[in-house]
Amino acid sequence: MNPRPTVRLSHAGFHVFDLDRMVDFFTSVYGLRVTDRGTLPGRGEIAFLGADPRDHHQLVLYQGRTARDGVHHNHVSFEVNDLDRLREIRRTLEEWLGVTNVLTVNHGVAWSVYCDDPEGNRTEAFVDTPWHVAQPYFSDELDLSLDDEEIAARTRRMLDGNPSTEPVGEWRARFARELGLE
Ligand SMILES: [Fe+2]
Repeated sequence: MNPRPTVRLSHAGFHVFDLDRMVDFFTSVYGLRVTDRGTLPGRGEIAFLGADPRDHHQLVLYQGRTARDGVHHNHVSFEVNDLDRLREIRRTLEEWLGVTNVLTVNHGVAWSVYCDDPEGNRTEAFVDTPWHVAQPYFSDELDLSLDDEEIAARTRRMLDGNPSTEPVGEWRARFARELGLE
């Protein structure tokens, strides 16, 4: 068997009650673009959204969710460029009608802001930290009102006592070697 990976995470899909409302949410808050939109015969409208030209879409929304569908996913996650963008997203989420459970989490490997979108799907935006630490790792010690340097310094101190902490570059290089990519 070829040990090199043949998959990478590309997109998630949700069934939604109100397609326009959900497209507005994901384009306005996360800056996704609608890459295509159309109709599935016999099923209703479908919208494709993305923010990376390597993917036709990273999120696909299907009109026609019914109450019995339930929520069959855990969360969808967007990496963002920097902490300022994460702060902006958090501010937007706190004011967005229908968004609930906005939560800031320090995972050691990532600074994250979660929410339940207007239809209750769990959604995450995050910035990678410069470190790797064994996961799962959760801390509520993440104050986005501090400046970037102070957030990094506090996170570094928080991770100091954890023996699995290492620079993320070392972890990535080791993982790439394990995958046969280097
Ligand atoms: Fe996540």
